[in-house]
Amino acid sequence: MNFEIKYKDARGRVGTLKTPHGIIKTPALMPVIHPGKQTLPVSDYGAEVVITNAYLIYKNEELREKALNDGVHELIDFTGPIVTDSGSFQLSEYGDVQVTNEEIVKFQEMIGTDIGTSLDIPTPPSVKRERAEKELIITLKRAKEALEVREELMLNSVVQGSTFPDLRSECAQKLGKMDFQVHPIGAVVPLMESYRYQELVEVVMASVSHLPDSRPRHLMGAGHPMIFALAVAMGCDLFDSAAYILYAEDDRLLMPNGTLKLENLYEMPCSCEVCTSYTPEELRQMEKEKRTELLAIHNLRMSFAEMRLIRQAIVDGSLWELVEQRCRAHPFLLEALRSLKNYSLDLEKYDPPYKKSAFFYTGPESLNRPEVYRHLKRMERISPSQKLILLPRSGKPYSERLYDLPQTFYKVVDNDSSAVAGTGSSRIPQEDMQVAVVDVPFGIIPLELDQVYPLAQNESPADYDEDSIKMVKNALRDYIKGFKEIIISAEVARKFALEQVLSLEDYSFQESLKIDVDDHKRIIMIADYQFGSGAGEGLFNEEVKIVKSRKTRKIRHVYDGDELIATLRASDGVFVLAKEGARRLHRYLPYPKNRVVVNEDAEPFAREGKSIFAKFVINCDIDIHAKEEVLIVNEQDQLLAFGKSILNGKEILNFNTGQAVKTRKGGL
Ligand code: GUN
Ligand code: ZN
Repeated sequence: MNFEIKYKDARGRVGTLKTPHGIIKTPALMPVIHPGKQTLPVSDYGAEVVITNAYLIYKNEELREKALNDGVHELIDFTGPIVTDSGSFQLSEYGDVQVTNEEIVKFQEMIGTDIGTSLDIPTPPSVKRERAEKELIITLKRAKEALEVREELMLNSVVQGSTFPDLRSECAQKLGKMDFQVHPIGAVVPLMESYRYQELVEVVMASVSHLPDSRPRHLMGAGHPMIFALAVAMGCDLFDSAAYILYAEDDRLLMPNGTLKLENLYEMPCSCEVCTSYTPEELRQMEKEKRTELLAIHNLRMSFAEMRLIRQAIVDGSLWELVEQRCRAHPFLLEALRSLKNYSLDLEKYDPPYKKSAFFYTGPESLNRPEVYRHLKRMERISPSQKLILLPRSGKPYSERLYDLPQTFYKVVDNDSSAVAGTGSSRIPQEDMQVAVVDVPFGIIPLELDQVYPLAQNESPADYDEDSIKMVKNALRDYIKGFKEIIISAEVARKFALEQVLSLEDYSFQESLKIDVDDHKRIIMIADYQFGSGAGEGLFNEEVKIVKSRKTRKIRHVYDGDELIATLRASDGVFVLAKEGARRLHRYLPYPKNRVVVNEDAEPFAREGKSIFAKFVINCDIDIHAKEEVLIVNEQDQLLAFGKSILNGKEILNFNTGQAVKTRKGGL
C-alpha cells in the first residue's frame, strides 16, 4: 500500500501517496497537462503531481513515438509523478474512441506512467437506470481486465453509476475488493458545470462510504477551488484542474469564492505575482496568448493556495469552519452543505472528537456538524438525577462564571418521567441533582462537563437564531424525560420559548441557589461521557485521590493511593489513561470495546511500548474514533499496552501500512 494518513478532520485526510516518481502530499491538485501543447512550467507554481491524457498521446503518431522511446516524463517535461487518463473523457464527449481497454492500459505501462486508468464508461447524470446498470457492468469488466494486463503499473479504477447512489455504492464496494491503488469518482463534471452540488454530495458520499479508507480518492474533473474544501471534507484526496487553463483562455479568474471576469475588474483580486504586477486594464490590452498565460498563473497560484489552506485546516481541526465559509459563496453550495446532515452517522465516525481548534458557530448549518450530533448521542451515557436545574449561558467554563445567577425560576409540571431519556439501559436515576447550562449549539451541558471539548472550546453569537432555538428546544424536551423534578430559569424558558412545549409554574428556592460542582461527580461524569455509561464507576471508586493544579485549581490527576489512574488533559478536558487506568478500563469495558487487538508478532513490541502499525492489527472496536484512548490487547484479550488511536476503527482495520495507535505505555 502506498497511502498513509497523517492528520484527519471531518472525513478529510492529510496524507502521503507514494509513487514511482516520488511522494506527494494529499489532498493534492494535479494540473492537467495537454501533451504537446503545454508551455507553462506548472511545478514552478506548486504542482507536485500532474495528470495528462494517454489517449491523446496514443492517437498522435509523433507523440506516441516520443512517449514510447523517451517516456511520458520526458514527453511532457515533468520529473515528478504523472497520472494518465485513458480516453474515457473523450468517449463521453464524442461517443467513441479508437482504442481498446487492454491496449490503452498496456500503453500507459509502456510509457512509464505512475498511475494509469482503465477505459471506464462515464455514464452521465440522470440517465435511465437501465443504461447506468448496463454501462456499470462494462466499467467493472474493464477494471478487472486492467488488473490482468498490468504488470507494475499503479491503477486508477473509476467509480461510476450516474446519479444512483446505490449503484455508486455497489461499484465502489466491488472495486474496493480488487487490487487498485487509487479510486477516482467519475462523471461528475456535468454535475459541477450545472451547479448541481447537492447531487454531487450524494454521489461522493455514496462512493466514499463504500471505498476502502486506505486508498486515495480522486474527484475527476474537479478543478475549481470553490469546491475543494467541501470535497475534501467528504473524503476526496486528489483533484485535477484543466480549469486553470480553460478559464484563463476565457479571461476568467478562479477564486476560492467563485469566478471573476477580467472585463469586470477594477482591481486585481489577490497578491500573486500577476495580480501585483499588472492592472486589469494592462491585462485587457495585452495580446491574447500572453494574457492567457498570466491568468493561468494566477489560477494555478490561487488553486494551490487553497489546497495548502485546506491541508492546514485539517492539521488545525478547523476544516468545518473553512467548508462553511466556502459554501456561502453560492446558494447551491449552501444547499449541498445543508444536505450533509443526511450523513451525520457516517461523518461522526470519521470526525475526530478532540481538536486543536475551537468550534466556531458560523450559522445554522453548524448545528449539523458531527460535534453536535456526537454530544447529543453521548449525553445518553450520562445517568439522570432526581432533580434537574437548567441555567442560561454564562462565560465559559460555565461553572466558574455563574456569578450572576438568575433570580426567577419555573418548575415543570406534569413531566412525563416514566419515559427514561435515551436508550442506555444502565441509566439509574441518582438521588442528587444535576445542574446544566442550556446553550447553542450543544443544547444541554451538565456543569461537570463544562471543560470537556468542545463544550468549553466553542463560540456562538449570544442572540440565538430560530434554527438553534428549535434544535435546542427539541433536545431539551427529550432530555428532561428522565428527571423527576425540573427547575428552569426564567431566562432559559424565555430564550427557548419553552412555555410552548412545557407546562410551567413559578418556583422559588428555599435558600438561595448555590452552585458547587463536586469533584468526584465531575470525574465520574467525564469518564462516562468519554468512555461510555458506567465507565466512571469502573475507573474511579470512592477512595480515589483527586489532585488539582495549584495555579488553575482545575483537576489534573486522579490517584489510587500512590498509583496514578488518569490525568485530565488541560487542553480538552478529557482523561489520558495511566497504567492503572488502562487496567481498570480493561476490566470494566467488555471485549472488544475500546480494544485494538494485535497479532503474536506485534505482542513483544506492544509490551515494550512501541507504536502499533496497522498491519499488525487483527481486530478492533469498530466504534473507536481517531484520537481516542485505546487498549492494546492480544487475541486472548490480555492487556499489553495502551495509547491514542491515530485512525478510527474502520480505518485501522482497512490499512496495511502506517501507524494505527501511538502507544503511551507497554508493560502491563
Ligand atoms: N475525466 C472526467 N470524468 C471522467 C470519468 O468519469 N472517467 C475518466 N476516465 N476520466 C474522466
Ligand atoms: Zn492573482
